[in-house]
Amino acid sequence: MTKEPIILAIESSCDDTSAAVLKGKKVLSNVIANQTIHKEYGGVVPELASRAHQQNIIPVVDSAIKKAKITKSNIDAIAFTKGPGLLGSLLVGTSFAKSFSMGMNIPLIQINHMKAHILSLFIDEGQKTPKFPFLCLTVSGGHTQIVLVNSINKMEVIGTTLDDAAGEAFDKSAKILGLDYPGGPLIDKFGKEGNTQAFSFGKPKVDGLNFSFSGLKTSILYKIRDCVNSNPNFINENLNDLCASIQFSIVNILIEKIQKAVNKTNIKEIGIAGGVSANSFLRSSLKNIAKKNNYNLYIPKFEYCTDNAAMIGIAGYFKYLEKDFSSQSEIATARLLF
Ligand code: KG4
Ligand code: ZN
Repeated sequence: MTKEPIILAIESSCDDTSAAVLKGKKVLSNVIANQTIHKEYGGVVPELASRAHQQNIIPVVDSAIKKAKITKSNIDAIAFTKGPGLLGSLLVGTSFAKSFSMGMNIPLIQINHMKAHILSLFIDEGQKTPKFPFLCLTVSGGHTQIVLVNSINKMEVIGTTLDDAAGEAFDKSAKILGLDYPGGPLIDKFGKEGNTQAFSFGKPKVDGLNFSFSGLKTSILYKIRDCVNSNPNFINENLNDLCASIQFSIVNILIEKIQKAVNKTNIKEIGIAGGVSANSFLRSSLKNIAKKNNYNLYIPKFEYCTDNAAMIGIAGYFKYLEKDFSSQSEIATARLLF
């Protein structure tokens, strides 16, 4: 049997600095340094993010190598996020990976962050993996897409958001409620205790498989502003119900479109990926729908939903098998398409 390659992977597209070591499809370590500095500003500040990446990258890589119980000389290739993301953040990971590749004389592999979110479904945790072709609902802080995945290398975006991403809808709604950034996990937490039907908000009318969340955000903003005008304590008194109802509205938009995509393509293999796929209400709602409609549903392990380098590592593994390597002239690209 041929030896499984050991890949060091780096992810630095937004505000998490992450390094992982994979042996084949198995994760030996996956270290993530979250940047708490952005909380004070209610969103990611790009300049601060790149500075924090600079501080974090060496300790995070060191820790990933130690946790994997390997040495630098065991590493067969280094994979990194080329884009999409914040340019200053991407530059830190890209420069590190290029230097490491040159210093250790090992192949360099560039990875598209959104494709990596999808390929996180193939990290070997002993679970079932999707069969091709499958549909993937990729929902993160910057993107909301339905992707037709024909093979590891052949992916086609068949639906996308026309304005905000689902993660932004969560985070902006949370900000209206006075919650910290990122608000998605907090809405999830408080929403568990609330009534999903307590409040209703405007529903977008978008044809086909595309999404829109900006109207929903405005509807939430106006409703809460009116209620706070007549009762300044309105948010505190209704926080759980507000979170449950907002979450219900966002998740419903996602679920309606994925069902539409199933009807259109007749594909019943469904994956979800990206930060919002960590949402417990989305996960449970999709599980119910999958059961009712005989869909085969694939959900990444919680730690592989939000940004992490293990997903860059699995994407790197597939490229390593194809010897699809990059050169030292590779550049970080903020708006990287599929
Ligand atoms: O994939 P990700 O970590 O970064 C991007 O590539 O954007 O996604 C981050 C997004 C944020 O908007 C965050 O609020 C959202 O994922 N998120 C959640 C949950 N966990 C993370 N949204 C709802 N419920 C969650 N449990
Ligand atoms: Zn992401």
